[in-house]
Amino acid sequence: MSRKRVAVLISGRGSNMAALIEAAKDKSYPAEIVLVLSNKADAGGLVTARDNGIATEIVDHTQFGKDRVAFDAAMQSKLEAHRVDLVCLAGFMRLLSPGFVDLWQNRMLNIHPALLPAFKGLDTHARALTEGAKIHGATVHFVVPEMDAGPIIMQGAVAVRPDDTEAALAARVLAVEHRIYPSALKLVAEGRVRVVDGRCLIDGVAVPDAAALVPSA
Ligand code: GAR
Repeated sequence: MSRKRVAVLISGRGSNMAALIEAAKDKSYPAEIVLVLSNKADAGGLVTARDNGIATEIVDHTQFGKDRVAFDAAMQSKLEAHRVDLVCLAGFMRLLSPGFVDLWQNRMLNIHPALLPAFKGLDTHARALTEGAKIHGATVHFVVPEMDAGPIIMQGAVAVRPDDTEAALAARVLAVEHRIYPSALKLVAEGRVRVVDGRCLIDGVAVPDAAALVPSA
């Protein structure tokens, strides 16, 4: 089976992007990273991508003013030029227009640093601590027009510790992110994930193997 051609969209350091690149170095992995696209020319992840011989593109959102549709169209033309099959948002901090999201329905993944639907938006780790959450984590989901919503593909949990700081909790969650994103993309690239009634079935079942889908940390 031919490997799916994946674009990773970033805005910053790109550690999740790096985890996907590492996973895809294995020739048996069902996806290859063919493009890293950033809305910021100084995103640290672009250096990592280039060091790994991966094509990079920059679509600078500041050139488009408030016109999200034009910005998304510019990204779409890059994705088409690189014949991309799947898109992975990895710390890509721009809201996407509904038309663009529709083009990539069930083919665009995002990673969010919380156990959705809890803690949508920003500052998830600080908010988890403030709220006294006992379990926190990360979610890989398909992108829908609503921010930080959409069918959940995989989640990973960490226990919140009594003496946790935001930085310590963020680091443990990030380690989980780096495990679940490559695993989730693998399932999608293998065609094993189907969305039914807004929920993901994996190999046809809602919760296939809880132990495999919730890495402990
Ligand atoms: C990650 O923690 C990711 O989950 C988060 O940004 C960070 C990017 O780090 N994404 C969001 O908050 C999106 N709502 P990275 O650039 O090192 O992958």
